[in-house]
Amino acid sequence: MESLRDKVTIITGGGGGFGRVTALLFAKYGAKLVIADINLNGAEAVLEECKKTGLTGDDVLAVEANITNEDSRKKIIDECISKFGRLDILINNAGIGRFAMLSQTPEDMYDATMDLNVKAQLYLTQLAIPHLKATKGNIVNLASIVSEEAMPVSGVYGISKAAVAMFTKTMALEMAQFGVRVNEVRPGVVMTNFYDKFLQGDAEKLQKFTTSQNMTHPIGRLPTPEEVANAIAFLASDLASCTTGDSIYVDGGRHCVGSGFAYSNISQSKQ
Ligand SMILES: NC(=O)c1ccc[n+]([C@@H]2O[C@H](COP(=O)([O-])OP(=O)(O)OC[C@H]3O[C@@H](n4cnc5c(N)ncnc54)[C@H](O)[C@@H]3O)[C@@H](O)[C@H]2O)c1
Repeated sequence: MESLRDKVTIITGGGGGFGRVTALLFAKYGAKLVIADINLNGAEAVLEECKKTGLTGDDVLAVEANITNEDSRKKIIDECISKFGRLDILINNAGIGRFAMLSQTPEDMYDATMDLNVKAQLYLTQLAIPHLKATKGNIVNLASIVSEEAMPVSGVYGISKAAVAMFTKTMALEMAQFGVRVNEVRPGVVMTNFYDKFLQGDAEKLQKFTTSQNMTHPIGRLPTPEEVANAIAFLASDLASCTTGDSIYVDGGRHCVGSGFAYSNISQSKQ
């Protein structure tokens, strides 16, 4: 991953979960980082962790930003350009999971999910594009196993991640002529704070969730955030220099199970 050295990289949702682990990995490879998160404390804590890997205050920036807000999106790009003078890599990572069956999905859940997982990603990307064209940079999006496969409880979250998959392919086509690559990672179930609101600390629900047939990962375990970060780093690096509009699953083979899922009795959550 030598090619990631000095690459100016924006990570949305960089203050926790995959974003945090990806920031630490990119820091290890010597990238320059903009850690953008709605949770400033989280972003600043990750910034401090990055410094322990050898980055200095000149190499990393924490930005408080709710990317569903237009001014926040502009702030991320402006502060990145003002500090580093360029942008090489955009990692569209921030996203939420709100789970209910489509037939019972309330409008506020639809709006919150689509606003963050789809709309915010598109309009942040639009602001980043002129800078990515200038550097022949690239974009990595966070899609999911549910980008292609329907699961009853994934509801509007599944719709949002299917939209991310089409976003990746369509934007890859638009950007290819400018030398800008656009790819995505499709993680399986990875235990981060992502599931906190859904599981609400309920150990029995967690056990049921991770062992239900829907969630069985053929490799025999759940993927780790580090494995997701490795796939992101590969796609963002020159090792993937002729790869665009593509996706890498990090799901222990879960997508190969295809439609062989069993209906899950996981109780729904209206978060
Ligand atoms: N964890 C999984 O099993 C899993 C599986 C497939 C895909 N994903 C996707 O991966 C991405 C990251 O998931 P995660 O597991 O790291 O989640 P997480 O909840 O652990 O972390 C998400 C981060 O995004 C930040 N964030 C939330 N709303 C934001 C906003 N409006 N503006 C800016 N930052 C915001 C949070 O503060 C947090 O730091 C998401 O897009 C998610 O849909 C996760």
